[in-house]
Amino acid sequence: MASTTTGMPVVTPLTHPEGSNLDFGASVTGVDIENLTDQTFDVLRTALFTHQVLVIKNQSHVTPKAQYELTQRFDPLAAPLYGHGNDKSSASVGSKSILHPDLKTIPHQPQVQVIGNGFVPSYEGLTNIQLRHPHHRTFHATSIPDSHDLTHTRFYRWHIDAALYGGVARAPPVVTTLLAVKVPKGRRQTCVYDDGTGDELDVPLGTTAFVSGYKMYDMLSETQKAFARTTKVEYAPHPYVWMSSAKSRSTGLGLVSEGKEMPLEELPVIEQDKIQILPMCWKNPVTGKLALQVHPSAIRRLHLADGSVVEDLEQVREIVYCLQRPGIAPDCVYAHDWEEGDLVIFHNRGTLHSVVGAFAETEVRLFRQCNIAGSEFPLGPEEEAEEVMVHAEQEEGIVEIKDERIPGLTVGAVEVGVAA
Ligand SMILES: [Fe+2]
Repeated sequence: MASTTTGMPVVTPLTHPEGSNLDFGASVTGVDIENLTDQTFDVLRTALFTHQVLVIKNQSHVTPKAQYELTQRFDPLAAPLYGHGNDKSSASVGSKSILHPDLKTIPHQPQVQVIGNGFVPSYEGLTNIQLRHPHHRTFHATSIPDSHDLTHTRFYRWHIDAALYGGVARAPPVVTTLLAVKVPKGRRQTCVYDDGTGDELDVPLGTTAFVSGYKMYDMLSETQKAFARTTKVEYAPHPYVWMSSAKSRSTGLGLVSEGKEMPLEELPVIEQDKIQILPMCWKNPVTGKLALQVHPSAIRRLHLADGSVVEDLEQVREIVYCLQRPGIAPDCVYAHDWEEGDLVIFHNRGTLHSVVGAFAETEVRLFRQCNIAGSEFPLGPEEEAEEVMVHAEQEEGIVEIKDERIPGLTVGAVEVGVAA
């Protein structure tokens, strides 16, 4: 294992292709995840909030327990509860939830899930498990032609790992850790946006794609930034049940509005105080920068600075789509090329990520994922970061929102804190 003379980890920003717009991600060497000192962890923590995605190679030996302890250390006050909860009879991950088939819980470490593709006879106390990677044929409203099935793919769902319902007990996790246990290698695919722009991206098979919420915010116009800073997003109750029949946009950035969401009266019992209304922008606790952090598939309403509420779901989605789409342009996407033993720690409150790729049934992919519901909601734009190292520079953006109420918004007229 690489190490410095001081025994401290070495953090090296990732090298991105020339001309790319990427400014996040770092590799870390010289760190022993099984025996983290406070001093070493502090280096990791600062690196995480600075670079958003940390890649640590050759970590196949890390146990589920050590993975959980590492994850928990980023939010030591958090209850030891998987980010979506584990009770499959509950409304958060009930049998109707879109997440239900994808979650296999490690029996001796229930905060750690196994995800992937294909049949696995035995792993960490789980036996005869069938893992299922999504496929565009069932996930998106439109599909890739069968003739391109193995060569082309799409982003499935750009998202934050979060329950988004359940009050502060289900606050969005601070980090997610992913360990690549088994990775089918060799193929690459073309990830197509299919939205009329011609955008596409060459990606490794089964990549996880990341974009920066900070970049997404920085690319907005000043008017859009003011709108984003003062708007709150109301998420649907039981969002993963609510959205279970709806289809993804071809870009994976939210859902197509076809009226397929489950009617509220058919959802499990809704407790109003568990509905989450969160700021559209979340402040980095170390750098003080603002990230545009919205889970576009789970949004239901927007609460504007003037007190009005955008109720129309299609309009809500169009507004958020216009804000987010520039930030997933091909030159803004980091598509991680997984190798077995890779441990990736990502800042779940400063990035969006998406599963990508279409596997053959025989291609076995096995990953361990861990995140823990946050101990409190993310900081809103008006709240104080613990240590401001960098001030977000305001830049002129490239997309205008077509909503007549937006240009007239009064900036700062509403408290943009944590919703009850
Ligand atoms: Fe995820």
